[in-house]
Amino acid sequence: MELDKAIKNRHSVRKFKDKKPSWKTIIECMDSIRYAPMAGNNFTLKLILVDDSKKINTIAKACQQSFVSKAKYVVVICSDPSRPKNLYEQRGEIYVRQQAGAAIQNLLHKLEESNLSTCCVGHFVEDQIKRELKIPNKIQVEAVFPIGYEYGEPKRKTKIDMDRILYFNTYKNKKMKNPKKLNV
Ligand SMILES: Cc1cc2nc3c(=O)[nH]c(=O)nc-3n(C[C@H](O)[C@H](O)[C@H](O)COP(=O)(O)O)c2cc1C
Repeated sequence: MELDKAIKNRHSVRKFKDKKPSWKTIIECMDSIRYAPMAGNNFTLKLILVDDSKKINTIAKACQQSFVSKAKYVVVICSDPSRPKNLYEQRGEIYVRQQAGAAIQNLLHKLEESNLSTCCVGHFVEDQIKRELKIPNKIQVEAVFPIGYEYGEPKRKTKIDMDRILYFNTYKNKKMKNPKKLNV
């Protein structure tokens, strides 16, 4: 699938078919996380693939979102912020979150390309997830991804207009000075 298609077709899915995805495909998708940019090339992410239904139920409860429990697989993405924090102090904390986001986007696009669906779940009681998955204290849970095949017709949201978010040279300036005629 072309990147453009994967970007534009991706959407959050909260209803899954009963059909179980192949764990190999999911791991292939998770592999894309390794290619994300990392500040100072310090890789901070740890990935947990969960297929134990009891654990998935506990994760769903920690998220207070029952649709999570309907997935046959859940990927939990964590970060170890120690090195970036030591190296870059406060900025390091920001970098850890930014690189998690970049890595997550790789995962989302690869899942889309593999016809698998998910929803980035960021609302959860972190301690409950940590306890269930034996995640050490110093590791932070970034997000939870229930994975499956979409049930029903895809519902796509209208996306924000470019006009509302694009400025030129200075914040809020909506006009590009002396725009060059494009030769297209
Ligand atoms: C950081 C983050 C946290 C999110 N947390 C949740 C969540 O806890 N539960 C949920 O149902 N969706 C969650 N979402 C999904 C958003 O609701 C969804 O991306 C948004 O409505 C746009 O829809 P789309 O993904 O279909 O484009 C989260 C998304 C992001 C990026």
